[in-house]
Amino acid sequence: MPEFAPSFALVEASDAPGLSPLERVRQQPFNLGLFLPIQNGGWSISTLPRSTDWRFDYNARLTLQAEALGFDLVFGLAQWMPKGGYGGVTNYRETSLDSFITTAALSAITRRILLISTIHVLYGPWHPLHLAKIGATLDHISGGRWGVNLVTGHIADEARMFGQVREEHDARYARAAEFVEILDRLWRTDGNVNIEGKHWQLNDAFVSPRPLHGRPILINATGSKAGFEFGARHSDFVFIPSPTGVELEPTLAALPAFTAGLHAAALAQGREVRTIINPTVVSAATDALAQARYEQILASEDKEASANFSARFNTQTGASDARAWSGHRRRAGERAVGGNIHLVGSPQRIVDDLLRLRDAGCHGVQLTFFDFEPDLAHFGQHILPLMREAGLRR
Ligand SMILES: Cc1cc2nc3c(=O)[nH]c(=O)nc-3n(C[C@H](O)[C@H](O)[C@H](O)COP(=O)(O)O)c2cc1C
Repeated sequence: MPEFAPSFALVEASDAPGLSPLERVRQQPFNLGLFLPIQNGGWSISTLPRSTDWRFDYNARLTLQAEALGFDLVFGLAQWMPKGGYGGVTNYRETSLDSFITTAALSAITRRILLISTIHVLYGPWHPLHLAKIGATLDHISGGRWGVNLVTGHIADEARMFGQVREEHDARYARAAEFVEILDRLWRTDGNVNIEGKHWQLNDAFVSPRPLHGRPILINATGSKAGFEFGARHSDFVFIPSPTGVELEPTLAALPAFTAGLHAAALAQGREVRTIINPTVVSAATDALAQARYEQILASEDKEASANFSARFNTQTGASDARAWSGHRRRAGERAVGGNIHLVGSPQRIVDDLLRLRDAGCHGVQLTFFDFEPDLAHFGQHILPLMREAGLRR
């Protein structure tokens, strides 16, 4: 029997020898990520027709498109929904691919881009040893390009699906910290590991192969003090919300103070953490055309699904206990567009907005689009060259 000999290299030779994929990405002045729409409706609770699709083929095409454009990373969200999703006429987000498995599949068809899996590590019977082994495997398959976006689960009904009661907000971060400290030990130790933790015990546990570059990439998505403390200690990137809402001007004014505590806490431990934020970009040849498109999307909200979304994220009722969006001021129809901030305009205006986000202390963006495939193509063709000219990208 002839041996299986792939005719391609699974990992592309680095143009920056000696650097890990993460270090290479951290050399970019401003990071570019794509938030993959692996759930129906993506981020836009809208009834307008568009190509955006949760299926793997579509998301694989987007990932390859992003990689060809030189994007740094991709990941999707993680969610647990009951039948009907958020309802309305779109059954918004009823269907979604699992973020972890999607990333695993993408690792075999990509060469350069970082692949991040959003994982609820506190739901169900996850043991750190499971993730250490699976993560080390993906780290090797991807050539050190894989990482975790760790989420602790803020929606009470999600925990109930697992037969669990949502744990108190800061206690979740304490438990998640124990989880990643165990992962770190398993990934870095060339020998058996014994741990008598508060939540997990390990007896002569061992993981080989160990990850190629110490440990895989770690991200957490948060806007709270406890989440920032966790990120300062453990994460390479913190995925932050807008502290004020989808409008750019108030976001820019509030961002420096919002992230100051995160950076101070990281610095106190000799660490540096990059922040990324999630804008939805609505762009066209001119500001007027982009604005017209934006207004059209705002007017297309699936109102019932949007109301159900607000109810699931409601912190007054306790449905959610997220602090990330507590300072958020709503704009009518905003959920039809989606994303944590809205950037609307000509390619030059978008680049000016990105420069202002950088000047406000953001190290990058995790982009969403209304109509992903054509909007990403527009971004690559018309916005990216201007980003290079502006010094945002090498
Ligand atoms: C930009 C962003 C993206 C997030 N993505 C997810 C996600 O995919 N799945 C999830 O369960 N929670 C997600 N979250 C929620 C957080 O993981 C966290 O549970 C929530 O923000 C509450 O924590 P906090 O009060 O520390 O912000 C996200 C939060 C932010 C800010």
